Amino acid sequence: MGFYEKQVVPRIVNVTCGTKSAEPLRRRVCSGLAGDVVEIGFGSGLNVPFYPAGVTRVAAVEPADVSWKLASRRLAAASVPVQRSGLDGQSLPFADASYDAALSTWTLCTIPDVSGALRELRRVLRPGATLHFVEHGLAPDERVQRWQHRLEPMQKRLFAGCHLTRPIVELLTSAGFTITGVDVFYEKGAPKAMGAESLGIAVSP
Ligand SMILES: C[S@@+](CC[C@H](N)C(=O)[O-])C[C@H]1O[C@@H](n2cnc3c(N)ncnc32)[C@H](O)[C@@H]1O
Repeated sequence: MGFYEKQVVPRIVNVTCGTKSAEPLRRRVCSGLAGDVVEIGFGSGLNVPFYPAGVTRVAAVEPADVSWKLASRRLAAASVPVQRSGLDGQSLPFADASYDAALSTWTLCTIPDVSGALRELRRVLRPGATLHFVEHGLAPDERVQRWQHRLEPMQKRLFAGCHLTRPIVELLTSAGFTITGVDVFYEKGAPKAMGAESLGIAVSP
């Protein structure tokens, strides 16, 4: 990984993902999380202020050291213990069936082997545990999809492998999760190609 991906992208992501307009989505997706939670693609800890009181601890999985450093103020103010516990969602260093819930916000777009990461989440989640997600991905409209395919190569270069065309709900169901509720919408203020969001809860079998 070069200087740009290692040093610059985490800082850009901290700003672009840290907008006020994302906060209601973070609040919604974190709502109902409880017990021991694994968060993949923890980034700079932008979800930390939204963990509900029922969360007992969070295992943060994040490869970027810079993002972890950027999280320090939020971590200092956290009301639940958060530990950086892994570096790669594709290979989680946890025992089978050891977590009550998982959280993924704008991360499934970037993990190279996203199906492998979802298999790993299923492995470490207890039967019936929930994965709370908000992710951008393939838009519902063909016209937007065409733009997404055009723009994806540039997006991947600018944002360290971020895809625009991943079909989030399809990926989750193919991995064996059951979606119990999902809201698909365009995020206000974001270009449609980058802001086709799926927010919901998936249950691990
Ligand atoms: C767009 S950012 C989202 C960060 C954070 N979830 C948020 O909502 O602000 C994507 C995150 O996924 C992380 N990531 C990239 N590859 C990963 C992998 N293989 N396993 C876990 N996280 C990864 C990146 O370092 C980055 O922090």
